[in-house]
Amino acid sequence: MIVGKPSVEPVDRQQEISEIVSGLSPSRRNVNYALLGHRRIGKTTILWKVRQKLSQLGFNVVYLDLSVYKLTPVEFAQAVMSQITENYAKDLGKLNKATVTIANLLRTLSKLRKLRFTLEPSVDERGQFSIAMKPELVETEDLPKVLTLAFDYANEVSKKSKRRVVIIIDEFPTIAEFTRYPKLGNILERFRSILENRANVCYVVSGSRVHFMREVFGSGDSPLFGHFVVREVKELAENDAVELYMKVHNASAAEAKSAYAIVSGHPYYLIMLAENRRPEEKIDQTYRRILTSSTGALYLYVNYILKEDLGSSTKETRLLKILRAIASGHNTVSAISEFTHLRITSLPYYIQELERYDLVRRSDGTYVLTDTVVRDYLTSNQL
Ligand SMILES: Nc1ncnc2c1ncn2[C@@H]1O[C@H](COP(=O)(O)OP(=O)(O)O)[C@@H](O)[C@H]1O
Ligand SMILES: [Mg+2]
Repeated sequence: MIVGKPSVEPVDRQQEISEIVSGLSPSRRNVNYALLGHRRIGKTTILWKVRQKLSQLGFNVVYLDLSVYKLTPVEFAQAVMSQITENYAKDLGKLNKATVTIANLLRTLSKLRKLRFTLEPSVDERGQFSIAMKPELVETEDLPKVLTLAFDYANEVSKKSKRRVVIIIDEFPTIAEFTRYPKLGNILERFRSILENRANVCYVVSGSRVHFMREVFGSGDSPLFGHFVVREVKELAENDAVELYMKVHNASAAEAKSAYAIVSGHPYYLIMLAENRRPEEKIDQTYRRILTSSTGALYLYVNYILKEDLGSSTKETRLLKILRAIASGHNTVSAISEFTHLRITSLPYYIQELERYDLVRRSDGTYVLTDTVVRDYLTSNQL
C-alpha cells in the first residue's frame, strides 16, 4: 500500500518519532500509542518513519491506512493477516518451508476457532504472501469471529516467531464506522478485549477527528480508556515551518516567515503556499488567490473538508451559516442568533455538532473557528 507515502523527508518530528520507537522497543513493555491531530498536520508522515525504524529494528510491522481504503471488516482482517504473513515468511526463509509453517498455523487457528471457512496462504510470482478466505463462506460466518481471528493470528505469529508484532492503524476512526455492521456489536469493546488478550503485539493508531479521538482514548467512560499513551501532534515550530517552506520553494527566510505568519506551522498549508507562489506576487497575494479562486488549491481543499464534514448532514446550510457567523466575529450565542436568524434555543445543538467535527471550539465563553484558513475562506467567499 504505497498510496499516501510522504514524498519528502520530514522536517522535525524527531521527538514524536523517537518517543514511539523507543517506547515500543523494549520487549518487557507492552504499550500502545494513539496519535491525534487535525487533518494533514503530519500524522502519516510520523507513522511512516515509525514504521520504517521499527522494521529496521526487526519487528513485524503491519501498516494499514484506513483513510485510503474503506475496508470491510473481512477485508481488514485479511489485510492484517496478509501483512503479518508477508513479514513472517521473510523470517522463515525458504518459500516451501514458509508455506508449510504458515498453512499449519492457519489450520490450527481454524480448528481452535471452529471456523467454517478455510484459510490458505497464497504466494504470487514475486513470492509475496497473502491470506485467502473463501468469501462466500465468510459472509455467513459471524463477523466478530473473523475480526478476532486476525488478532489471534497476530498473537500466534508473535509467539511462534518470538518477535513483536506492531499493528499501525492510520485513521482509526474509520473502524468506528464498522458500527454499520450491527453483527459486530460494540466495536470499541471488541477492540478492548483484543487488547486485553494480546501476546507480544502492540498497537499504534492515529486519527484526524480530534474530538472523537479524545473521547475514545482519553475519557474515563470509554472502553479503550487507559490502554493507550495519547499524543497530540501539533503544528511545526516557527524555525521548522521556515525550513519546510524553504525546502519546497527556494525562497528567502523573510518570505518563509511571512508564510508562517499567515498559516502558522501547519505543514500542508505551508506546502500549498510554497508550491503556488508566483514570482510577481507577494505571499499574502498568493494566499488570497489560492483561497478565493475557484481553482485555487486552498479553495478546493477547504471546500472538500467542509463537504466531508457537513455534506452528509441534513442541517448543512444552517451549520454553514453558523460557521460564517463565527468566522466574521459573531461569536457569542446571541450574536450568532442575530446574524443567522436561528432561534437561540436551537443553537447549542448545532454548535455542539460543529465542535464534534473540530470546526469550532470554545474559547473564554465565545466561539472561534479552530482553523484560520477555514475562517478566511468563509469570510472571503460567497457560498
Ligand atoms: N514534518 C513534515 N515535514 C515535511 N512535510 C510534511 C511534514 N508533515 C507533513 N508534511 C506534508 O504535509 C502533508 C500532510 O501530512 P500527513 O502526514 O499526510 O498528515 P496527516 O496524516 O496528519 O493527515 C503531506 O504532503 C506531508 O508530506
Ligand atoms: Mg494521514
